[in-house]
Amino acid sequence: MESDIQTRREFFLQACATASLLAAGSAIATILQSCNSGDNPAGPGGQGLAVINATESGGKVSFAVDSSSPLASTGSAAQVNYGGGILLVARTGQTEFSAVTATCTHQACTINGYSNQLFTCPCHGSQFTTGGQVSRGPAASPLRVYATAFANNILTITL
Ligand code: FES
Repeated sequence: MESDIQTRREFFLQACATASLLAAGSAIATILQSCNSGDNPAGPGGQGLAVINATESGGKVSFAVDSSSPLASTGSAAQVNYGGGILLVARTGQTEFSAVTATCTHQACTINGYSNQLFTCPCHGSQFTTGGQVSRGPAASPLRVYATAFANNILTITL
């Protein structure tokens, strides 16, 4: 009887040790995976984009772009969250803006890096121009582009 209890005890101890090893292995795998996928919000070689929260109404997303906006100066860019999705918006001129989807065409990661006028995906490093064209793979298709209009310091993006 005692040996039976001891055997059970040993079994549970072994099971516990195995579970601990599996948990440790899983944690290491998670760490390695996040190293490999480049979970740095800035993305490989990119700076993290400022986030603007906007609202959508009637198929249009609009928000103010004043002197305190992340889009105040030409050459700047921001991520725009509007509830239904995320856009990447770049100011390409005094009154010109571009808007593209933030969903990468490679494996649908959210693009969140921006450097040297290029948007960078954090997952595998694809880069896109502010007009959505692929500048560097592995993505092969351009980002969807949306029309923009700027008047009275309000930027309107038509979805
Ligand atoms: S999901 Fe963007 S590069 Fe792979």
